[in-house]
Amino acid sequence: MNNFGQARSTAAKDWLDDNGDKLPGFNFSFTQTVGKIAWDKIAYDELAKVIDTNLSCVARVLQIANSPFFGLNKRVASVRDALTVLGMASARNVITSGCLLESVGATEDNHLIADVVTHSVIAGSVAKMIASTFNAGEGHAFTAGLLHDVGKLTLLVRAPQEANGLYKATEQMTDKQMMYSEVGLFGFDHAELATEMLHRWRLPMEIVDAVASYHQYESLKEPLQRVVCIADCMAQYVQHTHADRAEAAATKRSHLDALDVPGSLIDGVCERVVRELGKQLSYSGENP
Ligand SMILES: [Fe+2]
Ligand SMILES: [Fe+2]
Repeated sequence: MNNFGQARSTAAKDWLDDNGDKLPGFNFSFTQTVGKIAWDKIAYDELAKVIDTNLSCVARVLQIANSPFFGLNKRVASVRDALTVLGMASARNVITSGCLLESVGATEDNHLIADVVTHSVIAGSVAKMIASTFNAGEGHAFTAGLLHDVGKLTLLVRAPQEANGLYKATEQMTDKQMMYSEVGLFGFDHAELATEMLHRWRLPMEIVDAVASYHQYESLKEPLQRVVCIADCMAQYVQHTHADRAEAAATKRSHLDALDVPGSLIDGVCERVVRELGKQLSYSGENP
């Protein structure tokens, strides 16, 4: 539970009781397995084998590899060939963003939803990259990073009018100010909603705790809590930098400094994110 109090957690539970029956749930073991695979060329066969176990993921990968964007003369019929067409980084993003969208029954038909998905995929990737530095497991780090803003995504899908208005109006605000606005409108913030959802999906407590507490910079105790907090901050930093939002980027950089993250780690991870996820960053909009 976050430090805004018990009453609001009840509000998140009540809201989910009214709206949660349509939430499909999260494919935990599949995403954990994807998160553990090394993201290099050698892992194509390994990843293809994992994807073959998930029908909707097979369909998504083949559909994208056969889309006009790739302009191929011949149809791609196997997951292994589709991965070669997409490239490892894009394939990974297609798969993990698909898992996230599926978990709340969403499609990327709205730019705020697309932004949250992009931000989440970047945060998951960053969490995996930095996990060993902070003594956290890579699989859990990847999943927790991917899910850290699932509450926001759920509000955009299940309460589109209110959530779209709120997130547009709070674009220039800090995370804390934005969360106070969420509490004002819904009675709970997106971390409380995510915490309740992850409980209901029976995810490991370590992941639930990390998603519950990553906004509380001052009181992070466990390695995974710290990893998710830093991954969220780094994802925002790299997105702001890439979009030339210098002031917002400087604020996030100072948060990372305050969290005692070495400058060389920040620069190394950001350089790798831009190299591997460049397309997603360009696609990303204004509201990480
Ligand atoms: Fe958040
Ligand atoms: Fe975030």
